Amino acid sequence: MYIKMMLALFIAVAFFFSSPIEAALEVGFYRDKCPSAEAIIKEEVSKSFDQNKGIAPGLIRLHFHDCFVRGCDGSILIDSTPTNQAEIDGPPNGITIRGREVIDNAKARIEATCKGVVSCADILSYAARDSVVITGGLYWDVPAGRRDGRISRASETLDIPAPSFNLDQLTQSFANKGLTQDDMVALSGAHTIGRSHCTSFTNRLYNFSSTTMQDPKLSPIYAQFLKQQCPRDSQGNVNQDLVVFMNQTPYVFESSYYQNLFQHTGLFTSDQALLDRQETTREVALYAVNNLAWQRDFVQAMIKMSQIEVLTGNQGEIRANCRVINP
Ligand code: HEM
Repeated sequence: MYIKMMLALFIAVAFFFSSPIEAALEVGFYRDKCPSAEAIIKEEVSKSFDQNKGIAPGLIRLHFHDCFVRGCDGSILIDSTPTNQAEIDGPPNGITIRGREVIDNAKARIEATCKGVVSCADILSYAARDSVVITGGLYWDVPAGRRDGRISRASETLDIPAPSFNLDQLTQSFANKGLTQDDMVALSGAHTIGRSHCTSFTNRLYNFSSTTMQDPKLSPIYAQFLKQQCPRDSQGNVNQDLVVFMNQTPYVFESSYYQNLFQHTGLFTSDQALLDRQETTREVALYAVNNLAWQRDFVQAMIKMSQIEVLTGNQGEIRANCRVINP
């Protein structure tokens, strides 16, 4: 009798922990539910990449910014409305974000095949993985089963780290999301591709501190180059549409980002800050000479990042249109 009761209790506990609300993400989540989903996303990323290579860095960053605000719930994809200023219009996003249309195209095709099944949050996670692969990074299986959030607030984008952050601030910002300093160092390597608007770093060129105009941690030659790319007008303002590549090979996913840091050509204060302490410098030195070691650590950190505060089971919804919360 006692054994039977214990068995019943064990089954009840096991059932509770495997109920839909507790369900974790799962590789192959759409294998039966929507078998063509992954292929459609890959095709859309590839098609867009052929037209504009900047789509790949754009999608990787989009996923990062989604995950750091209310978890990876696709809330960055939602448009603002007259009564709600959404994440997409928060200060770190706005005109610097690109790639949302790729998610819309994939979503439209997927909805036509399997309606109401694949979340926008998952589409974004697959698209970020495909963007890493298409630029030469390692492949990984994406755990899926995320649900879409129903809240998106511009004010919450303060959770996204700023390019002016020092090492402690960066470490804290990642720790707030359950990521380690090691994860942060590996993930920062995403800046090996893509571009930046001048306005994201011109403080390092023109008004760094009360004692020095130019950031002493920035290579003077590189600073000169950046000033040419990002000139000030007669009022001392820099055109907010101007952009520079973050790397000499802006569409190749390799570890040259870490080599740049030793040459003091990291674009942001937050990039160069990785050399501020011995423990992070050691990692930067390893990644600078060992691309594969970085790629492997990057993948592990991405898999972790892509599971921040996800909604699963019955939580949230499967949005019909990634830009609009379901009525
Ligand atoms: C460590 C803290 C980080 C800071 C402070 C930061 C900041 C920034 C800033 C300011 C830009 C330039 C945006 C613009 O002006 O156009 C940028 C670009 C980018 N970031 Fe980060 N970032 C960080 C971490 C990450 C992470 C973790 C990822 C992805 C895993 C990432 C991926 C990217 C990519 C791919 C771009 C290029 C975007 C494009 O070309 O459209 N960043 N980042």
